[in-house]
Amino acid sequence: SQYPHINKGLEGIVAFSSTKSFIDGQEGKLIYAGYTIDTLAENATFEEVCFLLWNDRLPNQSELDDLTSKLQGERALPESVLNYLQNTSKNAEPMAVLRTAVSILSDFHEVDADTSKEFRLNKAISITAKIPTIIAAFDRARNDKNIVEPLSDHSTAYNFLYMLNDEEPGEQAEKTMDLCLILHAEHGMNASTFTNRAICSTESDMYSSVTGAIGALKGPLHGGANQAVMNMLLDIEEQGDDPVDYIENRLANKEKIMGFGHRVYKTMDPRARILRGMSEQLSKETGHETLYEWSEAILNTMKEKIGIDPNVDFFSATVYYSMGIKPDLYTCIFAMSRVSGWTGHYIEQAENNRLIRPRALYTGEKDLDWVPVEDR
Ligand code: CMC
Repeated sequence: SQYPHINKGLEGIVAFSSTKSFIDGQEGKLIYAGYTIDTLAENATFEEVCFLLWNDRLPNQSELDDLTSKLQGERALPESVLNYLQNTSKNAEPMAVLRTAVSILSDFHEVDADTSKEFRLNKAISITAKIPTIIAAFDRARNDKNIVEPLSDHSTAYNFLYMLNDEEPGEQAEKTMDLCLILHAEHGMNASTFTNRAICSTESDMYSSVTGAIGALKGPLHGGANQAVMNMLLDIEEQGDDPVDYIENRLANKEKIMGFGHRVYKTMDPRARILRGMSEQLSKETGHETLYEWSEAILNTMKEKIGIDPNVDFFSATVYYSMGIKPDLYTCIFAMSRVSGWTGHYIEQAENNRLIRPRALYTGEKDLDWVPVEDR
């Protein structure tokens, strides 16, 4: 036949070249534009990572200061977005609200006025700067709390925690959040980045591609897994279950365990390795040691029973929980970080575009006769 082989889920298909990130799934290695994730976790800030993903190199001091002040200057939201966040259903899913709010943002900005790199970079800065404000404002509004205006100084991580809690975060909280933002910023051709590039490839605007990417990230097989991991741990706690029995029962029912498995990694995700250490330390410090111990028991059970390792979402859940963040915001924090990768890919796709348009193998009938409606 004309199409003998179907790559279901586009597994293994290389559709683009990219300078943004490299994943070695066998060795468990991740590189952003030349730097290993361990090097970045140890040395970088999220703002430096944004610069790296947008320009394929690290900034010098004045470039970093310039980007930082541009991000700080773009944090405030248009009035009508604030109105939306205050008036939408308090029970709405935060990821759905984030998706809608980013979409509304495009009404207040030129979306595709020009095709220069500078124009696109400014869009990337503007969207990246506003996502934390959207998340914090909705969380406060749904809890009948005052919306906290963004600061015009401090890091993205500091400002987000400040707007969320109406309280200045400590140094450790800021550092932990910054590290989480670094770890989630970019990850090859994952479903949301692919969605974002597919939208860009039609010459649509960056707001459309980020909106689409948020929709893709929301699902539990992708970014939604971190929230699902926390709900699983809280479920175990509430039921008073033994975590090993809980997992074994679910595996026996052929259920998937959230936070495990990966299309590319066939060993421990290097981000999970870093988050594991953070989870251990923070859980102990905040009295959530049991949750960390259960996580380790679950990890061992998964390894023994089906030989599958944790991904980035498994330990990030307990890290956020230890910081007092509500589980349904975890995927939004993922988006707050990954927007840097999405927009970097948008610029890369736009500068070397070809319409993304794969094909499907038609398996339906081809020569049916028309039957009038009264005879069907
Ligand atoms: N729990 C139980 N079994 C699993 C799991 C899991 N989490 N992940 C994979 N398997 C099994 C799967 O059922 C399959 O078994 P069989 O060969 O008997 O059918 C085998 O392992 C191979 O997995 P697959 O489903 O073919 O792998 P995939 O590449 O299509 O799926 C995945 C990757 C991430 C969707 C999947 O591992 C999964 O659903 N994990 C749980 C959700 C999750 O944690 N998602 C986050 C992904 S990583 C970061 C992110 O994007 O947010």
